[in-house]
Amino acid sequence: MNMPYQSSVGPDVFDPMERASVDELRALQLDRMKRSIRHAYENMKPWRAKCIEQGVHPDDFHQLSDLSRFPFTTKQDFRDNYPFGMFAVPVEKVARLHASSGTTGKPVVVGYTARDIDTWANLVARTLYAAGARPGDKVHIAYGYGLFTGGMGSHYGAERLGCTVVPMSAGQTERQVQMIQDFDPDLVMITPSYLLNLAEAMERQGVDTSKLRLRAGVVGAEPWTESMRHEINRRMNMRALDTYGLSEVMGPGVAQECIETEDGPTLWEDHFYPEIIDPETREVLPDGETGELVLTSLTKEALPVIRYRTRDLSCLLPGTARPSMRRLGKVMARSDDMLIIRGVNLFPSQIEEQLLKVEGLAPHFQMEVRREGSMDDLTLNIEPRPGSSREEADAHAAALVRRVKAYLGVTVRTKLHEPGQLARSEGKAVRVVDHRPKH
Ligand code: DLL
Repeated sequence: MNMPYQSSVGPDVFDPMERASVDELRALQLDRMKRSIRHAYENMKPWRAKCIEQGVHPDDFHQLSDLSRFPFTTKQDFRDNYPFGMFAVPVEKVARLHASSGTTGKPVVVGYTARDIDTWANLVARTLYAAGARPGDKVHIAYGYGLFTGGMGSHYGAERLGCTVVPMSAGQTERQVQMIQDFDPDLVMITPSYLLNLAEAMERQGVDTSKLRLRAGVVGAEPWTESMRHEINRRMNMRALDTYGLSEVMGPGVAQECIETEDGPTLWEDHFYPEIIDPETREVLPDGETGELVLTSLTKEALPVIRYRTRDLSCLLPGTARPSMRRLGKVMARSDDMLIIRGVNLFPSQIEEQLLKVEGLAPHFQMEVRREGSMDDLTLNIEPRPGSSREEADAHAAALVRRVKAYLGVTVRTKLHEPGQLARSEGKAVRVVDHRPKH
């Protein structure tokens, strides 16, 4: 079992590997990747079939750059082999199952051996440590428990670090506020949209957030903007740090923004090897360029994923708080969340950015897309901040329409709702409701 590792030299870290030199890290990645590729080839039938079709074999792997010769793994592979066909160990060796619901089709099912769960706990402990948590801190977990990886993944990591865990799960917002007041946790683990919902509930109940002990949050599982971070930090009197992960690759614990630098999530590269590809040509792009993030697991047993196409758009930035490990550029969107409105590509996070610039509007929104004749029509459901008059609210809505036209090039309609009327998130916010006919 890992214990927090402290040294007088270099960053204060949970695992000594976080302080490795680039050479040490690359050597470890090479060794682990060799094993992971062989393990997947020998035990994961669908991926082996792709290798055979592509004419590559684990013996062709000699250096990290050889990875690009191997086939990708996609979400469709999980769907085609539902439920257990992707596992690289017999089902009896799988200690736990999780699943992500997805918006269409069958859920993606993932499995973990007992050793995978141990690795995962260490990675989430490392994640929490990087966000400033220390043994003895109280951690309130408001990610959903159950098939979603967020709740239990966070839970085991917080226990591993030696924290006092409050396994709240998502929902029951008023009760969450009560527990936060009564138990006075040091950290929260929660989605940004739900944290904003909690902030609002606290204001409603007259809770003075400056009196709470809460100092930081491990906040993620959905896209959010810097403006949203400022809004949350201001209202909650804390520091929200970005955390990134996905079920197919592990769950939470893939990348975490370090509290020392607060400059985007550091990828735990000793366990997950990143590439950025052009989603169209599938060519690997150099660091710094934006494209689709592709991840290869280096230590997983039940479900090794080789070149998993995350569909998340990001870029790789040089390491800072953990100098040898690269950071992820803010994941602003999944490529499948992109709307094309009258020829203009649009992501919900771009609307969030503009909405938060209009001070009189509340930071809650939902986008509705309809087809009228041959034209797509986008309506933004929004709310004024409490206390605005009808005229003020109309003026703010008009300001948003102008901003969206000027900065994003799309003409939108707005629909104003009474303060508090729009549905609030209790997990991942649903930003888009698409009424267009499905093909
Ligand atoms: O959301 C795992 C997780 C739980 C991560 C708790 C962090 C905290 P899935 O449900 O499979 O797993 O969804 C993964 O969510 O591919 C991204 O599109 C999105 N996502 C996750 N973290 C971030 C983030 C969990 N920090 C999908 N920023 C990913 C933007 C994120 N998007």
